[in-house]
Amino acid sequence: MTTPGFPADFTWGASTSSYQIEGATAEDGRGESIWDRFAHTPGRVRGGDTGDIACDHYHRYRDDVAIMAELGLDGYRFSIAWPRILPAGTGAVNEAGLDFYERLVDALLERGIEPHATLYHWDLPQALEDAGGWPLRATAEAFAGYADIVARRLGDRLATLATLNEPWCSAYLGYESGEHAPGRTEPAAALAASHHLLVAHGLGVAAIRAAAPRTRVGIVLNFQPHAPLSDHPLDLEAAVLGHDRFNRWYLEPLTGGDYPADTARRLGWRRDEVLPGDMATIAAPLDFMGVNYYTRSFERSPLLPPLAPPADRELTAMGWEVYPEGLTGVLEFVASRTGDLPLYVDENGASYDLDPADPTRDPDRVEYLRRHLVAARTAIDHGVPLRGYFVWSLLDNFEWAQGYARRFGIVHVDFATQERRIRDSGRFMAAMARGGEPAEVAVTAEVAR
Ligand code: GCO
Repeated sequence: MTTPGFPADFTWGASTSSYQIEGATAEDGRGESIWDRFAHTPGRVRGGDTGDIACDHYHRYRDDVAIMAELGLDGYRFSIAWPRILPAGTGAVNEAGLDFYERLVDALLERGIEPHATLYHWDLPQALEDAGGWPLRATAEAFAGYADIVARRLGDRLATLATLNEPWCSAYLGYESGEHAPGRTEPAAALAASHHLLVAHGLGVAAIRAAAPRTRVGIVLNFQPHAPLSDHPLDLEAAVLGHDRFNRWYLEPLTGGDYPADTARRLGWRRDEVLPGDMATIAAPLDFMGVNYYTRSFERSPLLPPLAPPADRELTAMGWEVYPEGLTGVLEFVASRTGDLPLYVDENGASYDLDPADPTRDPDRVEYLRRHLVAARTAIDHGVPLRGYFVWSLLDNFEWAQGYARRFGIVHVDFATQERRIRDSGRFMAAMARGGEPAEVAVTAEVAR
């Protein structure tokens, strides 16, 4: 059904990732990932939470597919756990892991839901980290082998296949700030990781093209406008630095450009890892790009006295500003580099505290989604070739360093019983998929239930 202002074949979907929902971390031959190790290290994740069980999706995937069918979603974006396929990262293939994703893909197709898969949503096999992790080129080469195996088995049935999800997070949060697995705080290693992630992407694209030539291949990046906190020239510079590191560092090489040179110099990066041919490998033509968007950030120069961001900002439970205009902006920014390449919003959503009286009531999330969809439609009006929108997330799940304390689901999960209940935001997404007008769809208890 056509939704006013959106293309007729627009994909309305929901997004998840393997470690955040699957559980069954030690079942059917799955190897250890860096997130298993990290979450089991005291002090790393809020409340000591782990993904050991998560949403038990590994066992309940049929129920979850049925929920998506009930909502009338067109697409489901999920990720594949590398250590389920290759427990040690390279070498012996675990057929049981491939079988699981094959069952999931077939269950989706039976319900007429397009499978959109991502190869890497941060759960690196621990064995590869033990050997050095993303700062080493060998990890990129291992990724190509993994991509080939998945593409051979599933490529013909996937609507899209993305190599990486948000390489900025893998490199920066994993190796520089240490907030995410593997929790290292080594800025030089983070820069090396950023390049090897992109090399992995490029080698992965080549492997997928060879193994499954008809598969639509892409990558998913995250974007955030970086606003200067004042008009002081040093704040303006801080905003440029943030924009370069966050928004341009991956996008420019992928679209035939290079790492932002000034910023690379300021970071003291000598490009030792960049070998002849790498930039061409990274810039391999794609079939789509995924854009993840949540919020904007304010930048303050470390040379100036601290200053709080504007107090009147509207915030989610993550402390992230609700800034829908930013979605229009980042889509236009990406399209300025990618031209007529199809784009998908592969993640957009919000965490809010539970309504104690009824955890399926989430008016703030409905409002967040409504305003961001209006912003997405504005980008379409301005000529951005947006082909789909995937809400983050289908289910409440393991929110990385925040554990289960932060909920993003359009479906509520009771982690004690694993019961799932559709929220008002889920019904809102259902109304959109059925052809609703975002500014008008009213999701009140009366109409929705
Ligand atoms: C992301 C992550 C998600 C997070 C979400 C909310 O790709 O940033 O894909 O895993 O849960 O962004 O923080």
